[in-house]
Amino acid sequence: MAIERTFSMIKPDATERNLTGKICAMLEKNGLKIIASRRTRMTPEKAAQFYSVHSERPFFQSLCDFMCSGPIIVQVLEGENAVLKNREVMGATNPEDADEGTIRKQFAVSLEKNSVHGSDSLENAKIEIDQFFTDEEIFS
Ligand code: CMP
Repeated sequence: MAIERTFSMIKPDATERNLTGKICAMLEKNGLKIIASRRTRMTPEKAAQFYSVHSERPFFQSLCDFMCSGPIIVQVLEGENAVLKNREVMGATNPEDADEGTIRKQFAVSLEKNSVHGSDSLENAKIEIDQFFTDEEIFS
């Protein structure tokens, strides 16, 4: 199995409820190592860039506004099959569809306020990591 890196974000609905530690513990319990982490805020420009793939979707503006509404935690995770593993640990995008034991099932409040983001492919993981971290900020 391949050791991969993926990008993870803890969203404003989760930082507001002080869930950062609980979410990190679930990532670590499932074999994902947090090799970079920073608490920050999205700017409108950064949110629009990060979610540009959704720019034509009806939820785009609301999503960008929400992502700028409070602090976020940006992270790089490393582990075996990290991209897929993180998506398994997160659960389905809509918490109503998420499996028991997943982060979104346990913590998400809605499709928009779904507590975490994770890269959907190795290619996008690299793009997303590069938007927030330099190589000098990542320690495996
Ligand atoms: P995320 O994994 O961060 O990627 C895009 C986000 O858009 C998604 O999580 C949801 O929080 C949000 N979103 C809001 N509405 C929708 C929708 N109808 N379909 C998919 N994603 C949505």
